[in-house]
Amino acid sequence: MPMSDPKDSPHGLATRIISTATRRGQGRRPVNPPIERASTMLSDDPAQMNSSRDGPVYGLEGGSAAQQLRRVLSNMEGATDSFIVPSGLAAVTVPLTAVLRPGDEVVCTDAVYGPTRRFLTRHMADRGVTTRFHPADATAAQIIECLTPSTRIVIIEAPGSLTFEVVDMAAIGLACRERGIITVVDNTWGAGLAYRPLEHGLDISVQALTKYVGGHSDILMGSISVRHPALAQTVFETIDDNGWHVSPDDAWLALRGVRTLPVRYRSQFQSAMKVAAWLETRPEISRVLYPPLPSSPYHGLWRDQFDGGASLIGVVMKGGNRSDAHRLMSALSLFGMGYSWGGFESLITNDTSQLEWRVHQQALEGEILRLHIGLEDVDDLIADLDRGLSVWST
Ligand SMILES: Cc1ncc(COP(=O)(O)O)c(C=O)c1O
Repeated sequence: MPMSDPKDSPHGLATRIISTATRRGQGRRPVNPPIERASTMLSDDPAQMNSSRDGPVYGLEGGSAAQQLRRVLSNMEGATDSFIVPSGLAAVTVPLTAVLRPGDEVVCTDAVYGPTRRFLTRHMADRGVTTRFHPADATAAQIIECLTPSTRIVIIEAPGSLTFEVVDMAAIGLACRERGIITVVDNTWGAGLAYRPLEHGLDISVQALTKYVGGHSDILMGSISVRHPALAQTVFETIDDNGWHVSPDDAWLALRGVRTLPVRYRSQFQSAMKVAAWLETRPEISRVLYPPLPSSPYHGLWRDQFDGGASLIGVVMKGGNRSDAHRLMSALSLFGMGYSWGGFESLITNDTSQLEWRVHQQALEGEILRLHIGLEDVDDLIADLDRGLSVWST
């Protein structure tokens, strides 16, 4: 499914998303593709049965909603091809499975999403692949120093999970290209809107579509967008060989979600900026971990690379312990206690396990909370947080 280069398009990203996500064709027809629930595809004659020219010959290849979603994602990310898989985690693990062989080494941020770390240290380690975790706050130069002749893949999370460090991704991409190393960027935070890794010379952009693209907290899905045709073929074969498939209903819901992605993402970013700036004024809080804030040590790297941002905020409290954090969370009425992000609803977590697993331990001055800012009225969210902070007693 080769795409034309989005840089050649006269249209902005939102226009490209809407026009690629609109069903084209002749005659009166629904604007949306149908939901095609099918394992079996019937053909008119034996010759057609063996030809993929008339569409998929078997349900595993995906129906029209899945194909259309892949086209939208390829257009957004500037990819040769984009693939969809059953979860965001699978979007990370599939390219690693496709490329890595015994003896290979992965270089990865210590701030990587916890289940990605588990895949590397359990599944991949058992298969002879080693991982070198660099400190979450390493600079691009320090990360490049970690590369060895055995390094096959560098995984970048843009920004890191929970503590939100940002690196100079183009510099890492350039160093990796010179050494024949493949770069995989977990681009869930940038959602293919605020950041498009392939345009900056990185090789693979993965997203948990579960988050902003789905947008309604009702599906699990991941995307893998690839720059080079040969690498895209390797990723395709891994998905094909393993028989991974996304249900037509879920593909349809993701296609519905992506049409409103730019407006939701922009609105949630604006609200998150307001909440983050307000949190910074609070005496109970030591630091707000949000790269778009001018006070963030990563603000410059964010400003130079991103056009907008996600609505996910880390908050380091001044001291406190887990029961203080739980009391604060229980005092909130608009923030649900739940583990995802990117959906319509505001959420809060106090999960430090991802920090505890890190190789390079970072001492924090207090409890850490993670807020996801949804589509509610932002002043109501701030009033709710004010209520929660009023029970903070340390
Ligand atoms: C940065 C990041 N990548 C990947 C994932 C995995 O997504 P999924 O829940 O769809 O497996 C998550 C989920 O929280 C995430 O935060």
